[in-house]
Amino acid sequence: MLNIALPKGRLGEKVYGMFARAGFECPAVLENSRKLIFENEAAQVRYFWVKPSDVAIYVERGAADVGVAGKDILLEYRPDVYELLDLNIGKCRMAVAAPEGFEDRPDRTLRVATKFSRIARDFYTARGRDIDIIHLNGSIEIAPILGLSDVIVDIVETGTTLRENHLEVIETIVPISARLIANKSGFKFKTEAIERLTGALEKGGERE
Ligand code: PRP
Repeated sequence: MLNIALPKGRLGEKVYGMFARAGFECPAVLENSRKLIFENEAAQVRYFWVKPSDVAIYVERGAADVGVAGKDILLEYRPDVYELLDLNIGKCRMAVAAPEGFEDRPDRTLRVATKFSRIARDFYTARGRDIDIIHLNGSIEIAPILGLSDVIVDIVETGTTLRENHLEVIETIVPISARLIANKSGFKFKTEAIERLTGALEKGGERE
């Protein structure tokens, strides 16, 4: 049985569609219920819905053999997992944004509000810039508006959230997309199934 952690939400439904086309079907997954675990014995799969930011934890600890996580989560938490494939969906970017017209003062410590402290720290350390990280859990965009920070490091997809809050991208840090990840020892024991899945997803991706 292959245990698969899906990120709850629209992205997860898309991911399930790709897995089903790859031969790992379990139609009950899309049932509109509060159930979180679904099994299809015939196809030898068990799916479960988890919070997107938790997928890597399930996979790292072996509760799931494979799962799909955003590159943002992989960069931020560096889970000890195999990254097998870029699924080319859930595309967005990690960026630095600031109020329109913002002018940086390189002689001052930059105050950075973010949910992605490690990504922000790595980015500024690489350029030798002193920063003060203000770790927040959401609604990052209001931090510079209220004077809590100078800039933010956050995910930008359409740019609507930034625009509506009069912020703009100053710099892109890294492009983000959804990745297929696998537990390291699970990969050893279930190599055949995981490689079949990876290969089929790769081919499906080319067709799209
Ligand atoms: C993300 C991110 C931005 C928004 C960007 O938040 O933190 O707020 O999406 O998308 P846009 O460029 O299309 O406007 P998300 O909705 O994932 O939830 P969060 O507020 O919990 O971070």
